[in-house]
Amino acid sequence: MMRGFFITFEGTEGSGKSTQINILARYLIRRGYDVLKTREPGGTGFGEQIRKVLLSVKNHGLDPRAELFLYLAGRSQHLEEAVFPALQKGKVVLCDRFSDATLAYQGFGRRLDMKTVRTAVKYAAKGLSPDLTLLLDLDVRLGLDRVRNRGKCDRMDREQLEFHKRVRAGYLRLAETEPDRIKVVAAAQEKEAVAGEIQAVVEQHLRCRTAVKQNKGKTRVA
Ligand code: TMP
Repeated sequence: MMRGFFITFEGTEGSGKSTQINILARYLIRRGYDVLKTREPGGTGFGEQIRKVLLSVKNHGLDPRAELFLYLAGRSQHLEEAVFPALQKGKVVLCDRFSDATLAYQGFGRRLDMKTVRTAVKYAAKGLSPDLTLLLDLDVRLGLDRVRNRGKCDRMDREQLEFHKRVRAGYLRLAETEPDRIKVVAAAQEKEAVAGEIQAVVEQHLRCRTAVKQNKGKTRVA
């Protein structure tokens, strides 16, 4: 049985995920949690190699199904090598993107058959679903401007505006269907305000988890 807590961060380009993951990691470590901070695509040597292939502008002609399988290949390895072992050890795993990204980008964005994408996503993740997902929601133009100002635009950033709009709408649809797991956070706010909202949601979930564990313990003792 997995003992840890699995939190994923999602959002369109330039929504501030990396900044917020770093802030949350520091916050949780200060509170005594054992934290693994990781990302997809990436998180392992193999995953980082796949990341380079996926984001390189040289691969602009990549077939959408080839793209799907590359993201999923990286995920399977990442889970086996990093995420499952950390959860077994009871760590809080903070992951920059996971299965919802595949549904949003390859399903809604690329318009691959959603049923097939869902089946493949579940298979690659061995059925693992995050305990909590923070969706940093932002106007796509604003996010893309932020990315462009950083001066580094990868293969996905360079997609058409309509693609990014479908991804955002897709994420919001996913959040509507799973409101208990996926929490939408307005990412246009100041970064401190975003961080405060995230910390409140995470604290609440971690408290619930502890309460459930304690109750289970009591039941067993009784
Ligand atoms: P990042 O720049 O947020 O690290 O993410 C890399 C890009 O990969 C981003 O444009 C989203 C995209 N992506 C997918 O299209 N499908 C996926 O399954 C994942 C994990 C990321």
